[in-house]
Amino acid sequence: MAAPRVNSDYVNQIDKARRDLRALIYSKNCAPLMLRLAWHDAGTYDAKTKTGGPNGSIRNEHELKHNANNGLKLAVELCEDVKVRHPRITYADLYQLAGVVAVEITGGPTIGFIPGRKDSFISPPEGRLPDAKLGAAHLRDVFYRMGLTDKDIVALSGGHTLGKAHRERSGFEGPWTRDYMKFDNSYFKELLREEPSDLLKLPTDKALVEDPEFRKYVRLYAQNEDAFFVDYAASHKKLSELGMKPTSTSQERLRLAKGIGLAVATTAIILGFFWTRRSN
Ligand code: HEM
Repeated sequence: MAAPRVNSDYVNQIDKARRDLRALIYSKNCAPLMLRLAWHDAGTYDAKTKTGGPNGSIRNEHELKHNANNGLKLAVELCEDVKVRHPRITYADLYQLAGVVAVEITGGPTIGFIPGRKDSFISPPEGRLPDAKLGAAHLRDVFYRMGLTDKDIVALSGGHTLGKAHRERSGFEGPWTRDYMKFDNSYFKELLREEPSDLLKLPTDKALVEDPEFRKYVRLYAQNEDAFFVDYAASHKKLSELGMKPTSTSQERLRLAKGIGLAVATTAIILGFFWTRRSN
């Protein structure tokens, strides 16, 4: 499918959809589910073959049936209400916008959002998202395949500050943090706590503490929430733009077009002024 034309009308629609998403996520109390939806649409990206990624393909019935996506049908259905009101917006943009709003509405950092993602009906093969039962090497396999780094792995894992696992969806149960509707750095504080707790730690969460390279970031983010927010916002933006072409320029082009328009208008006024003076 073709990329949407990101003109001022499209940007207006995005602003309206953002407001609708805020209201929807607030009223349904579904920020964690929306963040998981955005991550699972984007997290299938393969940088070598340039397949998967944030392209809305998660709405396909068969992709929703992938084991890792259990429970996300509800999120896709909720987003449909917003899509109906703003039909020009691609699903790919809509799901990523929902992820950004979910983080912001729960107290997390502001995340830059560039519209212009293409929709696709082609789903990636099953098995590209991480398996929670595995360890550090597996996390690197999955995230390096997307073109992401160790720092991205740890920062993005901080998304587990929100929400909880459901036995009927993943086989795991419970939240990672005490206040699981608040986006903060408590996920990292809980990871480093040594005394036993009733909070969830997946094998992949434990790998972040056990691996020396990952652990450096876990300690930094547990001590310094500002550092976590800065890195999280950057990694989330990267994740949400995987495979997007041309990267991050659609809005810049729009701004440039407006700038050129303004320059032409100003020149015309100045020339007009001198022309009138000469004629007098
Ligand atoms: C690092 C590898 C990751 C693994 C292995 C993993 C695994 C899981 C599992 C097993 C669940 C429970 C699903 C359920 O039972 O409902 C879950 C939930 C969740 N994940 Fe992850 N995840 C990973 C990374 C991420 C990332 C990068 C984000 C976002 C930036 C994220 C956001 C979430 C959220 C918000 C939930 C809670 C959903 C809810 O409350 O309904 N996860 N994840």
